[in-house]
Parts: sequence; C-alpha cells; structure tokens
Amino acid sequence: MNKITVVGAGNVGATAAQRLAEKELARQVVLVDIVEGIPQGKGLDQWETAPIEGFDTRVIGTNGYAEAAGSELFIVTAGIARKPGMSREDLLNTNVGIVKSVAQEIKKCAPDAMVIVVSNPLDTMCYVMKEVLGAPRKRVIGMAGVLDTARYRAFIAEALDVSVEDIQAMVLGGHGDTMVPLISYTTVSGIPVTQLMKRDVLDAIVARARNGGAEIVAHLKTGSAYYAPSAGAVQIAEAIVKDKKRILPCAAWLEGEYGHRGIYLGVPCKIGAGGLEQIIEVELTSNERVALGKSAQAVAESIAQVKL
Ligand SMILES: NC(=O)c1ccc[n+]([C@@H]2O[C@H](COP(=O)([O-])OP(=O)(O)OC[C@H]3O[C@@H](n4cnc5c(N)ncnc54)[C@H](O)[C@@H]3O)[C@@H](O)[C@H]2O)c1
Repeated sequence: MNKITVVGAGNVGATAAQRLAEKELARQVVLVDIVEGIPQGKGLDQWETAPIEGFDTRVIGTNGYAEAAGSELFIVTAGIARKPGMSREDLLNTNVGIVKSVAQEIKKCAPDAMVIVVSNPLDTMCYVMKEVLGAPRKRVIGMAGVLDTARYRAFIAEALDVSVEDIQAMVLGGHGDTMVPLISYTTVSGIPVTQLMKRDVLDAIVARARNGGAEIVAHLKTGSAYYAPSAGAVQIAEAIVKDKKRILPCAAWLEGEYGHRGIYLGVPCKIGAGGLEQIIEVELTSNERVALGKSAQAVAESIAQVKL
C-alpha cells in the first residue's frame, strides 16, 4: 500500500504505527491525534528507528487530515480507554462523539478507504463508523476477536506447556463480558483441546480470557492493554495489504448470518484485499448458540443507545 493512517496516537495507535512500519506494510504511515505535538513527536521518533530496524516506511505525525488524504487503510484507535472499575460500555458516550468526528474526516479525505476500528465499545464504534461513512460492510471491520483469541491461545499454551503457534481457536461474539470462546473448535495441532486438558482447567482459562482486558487494566491502573491490541489490528491490516485471505475472528456487520442482522458481532471472517470478503458460518453447539445470542443482545442494546 502507499499510505496507511492510524488515528489516535495513544498507546494502541502509536504501537500499531510502529508495527506497521516495521513490517513495511505501506510506503507511508500517518499518525493523527488531536493533541498538539504528540503525533509529531512519536512519528518522528518512530521514523528515526528506521535505520536501526531497517525499514523504509516513512512515519509522519500530524494534527490534521491533509497528510492522510488518499490513505487506502485507516486504523482507528481514537478515544478514551478504560480505567480500573470501568467497563467498555462506560466509554460509550465520549467515544461515539470521537469516532463520529473521525469518520466524518475519513469520509472527506479518503472516502473509499478501508477502516479497522479498535476504539471501544468496539462493536458499537464499528456501527458508528459504518453509519457515518455510509460504507459497505466489507470496508469497516472491527478488531476484538483476534485479541480475545490471542489471550485464550496464550493461556492454553501456557497451561499445556506447548507452543502458542500450535493452538488454533476462535473467540466469537461481542467484545465484552459476553464473548464466546468456541471450545468445540479449539485444537492443539488438530487435537481437540478437551482431550488434553480437564474441563475445569479449560473453564478457568475461558473465564480468564473473558476478563483479559480487565486483568491488564487492574495492573496498569492508568490505562488499558495495547501491545496485544495493536498486534491484533496490524494482523488484520497485514491480511488486507497482502491479500492473505486469512480466516480471523473480526467484528463484522451481520446481515442474517448466525441468525442476527443489523449489528456488529465477532464472527469468523475471510480477510483479504477486498476487506471483509466472506463471513464463515460454522456449526455451533446449543450452548454456544445461546451464548452468542446473549452477546448479540448486549451489542444490540449498546447500539440502541447511539444517537448520531
Ligand atoms: N478493540 C480492542 O480490542 C481494544 C483493545 C485495547 C484498547 N481499545 C480501545 O482503543 C482506544 C484507544 O486506547 P489507548 O490505550 O490507545 O488510549 P490512549 O488514551 O492511550 O489513546 C487514545 C488517543 O486518542 C486521541 N484522541 C482523542 N480524540 C481524538 C480525535 N477526535 N481524533 C484523534 N485522536 C483523538 C487521544 O488524544 C489519545 O492520544 C480506547 O477506546 C480503548 O478502549 C480497544
């Protein structure tokens, strides 16, 4: 790609910009934030790592969107993050306004761009972005399932003392307490995880993955996770840039899939140069279907609160 813009030069955005540059996913990475000096300073600092890390991606920080014009892809991380005791839903009112204003800018400077949304509450912010952009669903994708799945995979690998690379898993549903780790599709190099691990240990891992964001917030106290979230956003970006056709759990706008429509929800997606190229419907156990229904209900209630 020629240009990728990251909106929000905070913890997630700045780390994502650095990862994009190190992977050389575009000629130019533009970092946009409203705080004067922060994107400029971070962008320059990152560009100065180029000779050491050996990448030619030019990183530029700015407070406006002129430099972002014509970007093929945006990663939107603008907004406030959680503090201890806050749920993702507590961010709703503030972040609706922020994501709406970012969407209006994207519409002006790069109306055909693809957008990966990271700001929370994730599924609702994806809805705001899609509505304001007036974009088809293939161009607005949310990053949450990749992160939730990474946490789940990391905990399983740790418990079994095996490589994280050999854990295949999917966490579906909304990005909140109602997320749905699919135990029936969790394998270790193809071996069902239930053959290798006692159910109570697995249940504890599921609970820890669900609570994974809050666990980090409790440690950090002043903000929320960003290394794994930025890696998740960049994994989706890489699938688009390299047209990898990866099957990743992403938040996608449902039009009847899994029995739901008119909401964003985490489902298995094929991600390539066309953005969201396909939603893959897998069979679910009755428990998983009920859990996904509850998750969809929670997202629908959150979206219902949005006044654009
Ligand atoms: N989807 C996920 O899995 C996931 C994971 C982690 C964090 N998040 C969310 O991502 C968001 C960012 O988290 P963070 O840790 O980077 O927060 P942060 O506070 O470090 O950074 C947010 C940045 O957004 C900027 N900003 C605010 N309004 C803006 C606007 N209108 N235009 C441009 N920039 C603006 C702020 O100045 C700040 O620099 C939060 O909403 C957080 O909850 C989502």
